[in-house]
Amino acid sequence: MGKPLQIEAGTDTQPTAQVDLDSRLVIVANRLPVHRVKRKGRTRWETSPGGLVSALAPFVRQAEGAWVGWPGFAGGNNRAFNHDGIRNRIVRLEEQDLDRFYYGFSNATLWPLYHDAIRPPVFRRGWWRRYVEVNRRYAEATAKAMELGADGDLVWVHDYQLQLVPRMLRTLAPDNRIGFFLHIPFPPEEIFARLPWRTQVLEGLLGADVIGFQTSLGAQNFVRSVKRFTQARGTDQMLEFEGRSVRVGVFPISIDVQHFAETAATASAIERAEVLRSQLGPGEQPRKIILGVDRLDYTKGIDIRMRAFQELLHRGRKNKSMSVRDCVMCQVAVPTRSGVDEYTKLRRTVEEHVGRINGEYGEPGLAAIHYLHRNLEFEELVAFYLAADVMVVTPLRDGMNLVAKEYVASRLGNTGSLVLSEFAGAAHEFRSALLVNPYDIDGLASSMQTALTLPQQDIARRMSSLRRALKRNDVFDWAASFLRELDPGSSS
Ligand code: G6P
Repeated sequence: MGKPLQIEAGTDTQPTAQVDLDSRLVIVANRLPVHRVKRKGRTRWETSPGGLVSALAPFVRQAEGAWVGWPGFAGGNNRAFNHDGIRNRIVRLEEQDLDRFYYGFSNATLWPLYHDAIRPPVFRRGWWRRYVEVNRRYAEATAKAMELGADGDLVWVHDYQLQLVPRMLRTLAPDNRIGFFLHIPFPPEEIFARLPWRTQVLEGLLGADVIGFQTSLGAQNFVRSVKRFTQARGTDQMLEFEGRSVRVGVFPISIDVQHFAETAATASAIERAEVLRSQLGPGEQPRKIILGVDRLDYTKGIDIRMRAFQELLHRGRKNKSMSVRDCVMCQVAVPTRSGVDEYTKLRRTVEEHVGRINGEYGEPGLAAIHYLHRNLEFEELVAFYLAADVMVVTPLRDGMNLVAKEYVASRLGNTGSLVLSEFAGAAHEFRSALLVNPYDIDGLASSMQTALTLPQQDIARRMSSLRRALKRNDVFDWAASFLRELDPGSSS
């Protein structure tokens, strides 16, 4: 087709992300880019919020492509439909598929295993069998969505839930270009080695022509495991498997920088941030706000972060330097995967911490920690970013972490400090953040203290450097760079 697809990234250093795709594009992801909402007794589809959808939707629309995925509820029909210029191909999942494929193998086996085994991964043969079966359903739905024509379509498969799809699809449609991107970390070989089905998973991925990772560490871990557990041979960038070449690359994901910046500049977001500041930090001298925003996931280090804040208050009480009159922590915890035991346990732990710390350090009218267990609307989220003096992003392991990037994108005036885990993919680009070991309670407390007391010019210098790093790579650049690699006929 060769339609020029030019997307304005809208930043001063990186004006456009441009790719001229030669073929139709089919996206395969666990979830569709839409979800069903019920308003005034009527249900309808709405485009889902989130970076991946906003990044890929323009490419799919322009390439007259399709999106294959699960609609977010059990059962239903599997009739394809168009929404907002995109052809949606439903993969229908029943309750039992959700238990075994989604909550089970994807989120209680692979998720902990790939995040350094922070929680013990559960290995169940029945879950694995269902993972294979559901991956096959995705592959078949994708083959149906494709036009098996002369040039072939481009297929881009996403994330750990669908690692077998590339190879299955290769059998169904041998001449198409298939890409795979892993959004989460790929673990070190000695951890991956525990997986009873390690060879099948790696061979599943090797069905792709291009396999993308967030960081060079993830790519290296993958290649090491591939060489140990499969017949593939080659370099860190190029593998040979079953007579084909497989390119391995690093493509750090990002966000729609302009969307955050534009929202952060609106009068309503600024006013809302002022209201939040006065609500969170009442008193003559407004309190400094330390903010955390995370899915309530054990990989995010929320509990350890709260204990570090407790340590900060403890030290402050001892040497009379800091109290709840000076600072407050606000933790937004977005509900997620409540069907997995470890998530229910984590919620209990976090809520116990909030109670204990508030009981110990709070004062009438001055809570030490404000805890919100909910999803925030986009503008409200940006208002929280604007209100926060310090953003704490301290995952124990994270593929990238987009919250760190969203905070930086919202801080137009180069104010605000970012405390960032060394173990988040974002730390590779954000060298000017206050980098911390998220397991180190004392070190974390000291970094929060530093962030709260840093001179204004140091804050500005660090934030302006973070903003430069962010502008070099927004989510459209990310998508374009992967697609250029996937489509040999593309031009840029
Ligand atoms: C991570 C994963 C995504 C996943 C998201 C939300 O970012 O990489 O694949 O969609 O979490 O999790 P959920 O289980 O609700 O889809």
